[in-house]
Amino acid sequence: MKRDLIDIRDLTPEEIDCLIERAEDIIASPEAYREKCRGKKLATLFYEPSTRTRLSFEAAMYELGGNVLGFSEAQSSSAAKGESVADTVRTVSCFADIIAMRHPKEGAPFVAAQNASVPVINAGDGGHSHPTQTLTDLLTIKREKGRLGNITVGCCGDLKFGRTVHSLIGALTRYENVDFILISPEELTLPEHVKSDILLKSRARFEETASLEYAMPKLDILYMTRVQRERFFNEADYIRLKDSYILTPEKLAGAKSDLSILHPLPRVNEISVQVDSDPRACYFRQVLNGKYIRMALIMMLLELL
Ligand code: CP
Repeated sequence: MKRDLIDIRDLTPEEIDCLIERAEDIIASPEAYREKCRGKKLATLFYEPSTRTRLSFEAAMYELGGNVLGFSEAQSSSAAKGESVADTVRTVSCFADIIAMRHPKEGAPFVAAQNASVPVINAGDGGHSHPTQTLTDLLTIKREKGRLGNITVGCCGDLKFGRTVHSLIGALTRYENVDFILISPEELTLPEHVKSDILLKSRARFEETASLEYAMPKLDILYMTRVQRERFFNEADYIRLKDSYILTPEKLAGAKSDLSILHPLPRVNEISVQVDSDPRACYFRQVLNGKYIRMALIMMLLELL
């Protein structure tokens, strides 16, 4: 039976550990993986803009010896003529061995998985979930900290619409002693369903605050996020909230010396470029990790491991 990845919780913690181990092996011995996907094709169906996710999936497949086809905007596909996601993936299943889909509507990759005869990977659906970003984040935390438990994680910014935060919390609550500090303006707090279905159910320790300064000294990981302009109903609210948090070298004064600063990117204004040269800034190493973990995931879903 084919396997899809729609939500991070489709993977067991053991499977996530295996993917992380495999990604670390790829990093150590890339030549051992150069022919793994010879003759296989990945379709990237992106109905919404992307730089990192689409290109890292494509780079991942090429580095495994496979090929890539697809589209990077809905307007260049028959979606522009009204074709459904179901019909599109039935069609693409005739041409590709695996599909990565990004879509502005929550649940679209789930519908795709029901209708495709090949594995479907959710590459981000609306404000819902972004499981391969979470795998990237977990690999980054593991490589930076050497562990996935016993950490205090600050999630800062747009926790309402930021799908990467929802997926990351879903994953990290399955590890021991992970405490969360949720830092956001009142209007962009974590949705109630994430609190009740994930944080409260897993009995995770968490607190909410609007103050980054308050949280900073306690954090092992600071996960910054962009205010998601594309999900706002009105521009005035976006403009009022967009610069709620801007991380600067001055704001890091109270931080631990071994803090790791992550960001799924793209950033707009929420991390000053002056922070980039701080060794605690991990977000460009995080981008590269995304390629390796996607290589491991493609092999797992194609049963090539
Ligand atoms: N992190 C992330 O999903 O980036 P892109 O939107 O550029 O793919």
